[in-house]
Amino acid sequence: MALHRLLGMKIGTPTPDTLDDFYREIGLEGGNGKWGSAAAPDQIVITESPYRQLREIRVGCEDEADLAAIGKRLDHLGVTYDLSGGKLKLEDPSNHWSIEIEPTEPFDVPAPPARVGNRPGDRPRRGQRADVIGESSPRPPRRLGHVVVGTPEIEKTRALFVDGLGFRISDSVAGLAFFTRCSMDHHNLLISPGPVPYLNHYALEHDDIDSVARAATLYLRAHEDAQIAGPGRHMIGGNIFWYMRDPSGTFFEYFADMDLIDDDQAWQPREDWPLEDSWSVWGEKDQPEVFFQPHDIEDVIAGYQKEDETR
Ligand SMILES: [Fe+2]
Repeated sequence: MALHRLLGMKIGTPTPDTLDDFYREIGLEGGNGKWGSAAAPDQIVITESPYRQLREIRVGCEDEADLAAIGKRLDHLGVTYDLSGGKLKLEDPSNHWSIEIEPTEPFDVPAPPARVGNRPGDRPRRGQRADVIGESSPRPPRRLGHVVVGTPEIEKTRALFVDGLGFRISDSVAGLAFFTRCSMDHHNLLISPGPVPYLNHYALEHDDIDSVARAATLYLRAHEDAQIAGPGRHMIGGNIFWYMRDPSGTFFEYFADMDLIDDDQAWQPREDWPLEDSWSVWGEKDQPEVFFQPHDIEDVIAGYQKEDETR
């Protein structure tokens, strides 16, 4: 595997301080515009921008030979890039996101303390209260797992990330949405339709359903209008999910237990997921309309168009 890790993203917002406060509140570690978990620091970088948007995606590959191979494929696509200092950098010509790829060591966050639970016929938790009850604060998010972007240029975006950079398609929906991975996660980048390029949501991995639900519940008690969707379990990717809105207007997802693909040859991507019935195994049946029409989408469109005039 050439690409093996989503290193991080840079997110733009008119109010960086608000996002700093938000990430501190939900238990990420860092400060001054750089946030992550204890094991995976600096995955989210905040920068001041005229409107909320995705600024950059950073991806890890195995070695410098991968960078050369990606460069050749970009040449073939006619996409310009800079390969120097051990990194390959480019601007996505359709969406104007910066992309950085660099060799990094294989990595996973360390396994959290296991929970002991009972189920039919297998009941090891005896004489002992559920451990989640004894946790004085919710377990924190462990890492940034995926980003979901909207774009008016689905095919060009798919071609850049898949044919050019080497992301692999795990599943797709009606040729309209591509679940792609640059690691063993079922998806690290979901390319979906949008009126302009924008960041639909980003997803933070939690330990399990207890951790997702407890952290989400506590956040929603303090921010009643932040609910977007969930809890539920997705069909595509298989992950438990709970979506909320961060103070900048971007949705964030707490997720756990996503499908993992460690054998590219053995995995069979499905292209026939039905548009109308592929949102969840349990939870809300349909994907809420707000996903396609975020509350501030008119501001995002106006912001993008204004910036586009200066390009
Ligand atoms: Fe997601």
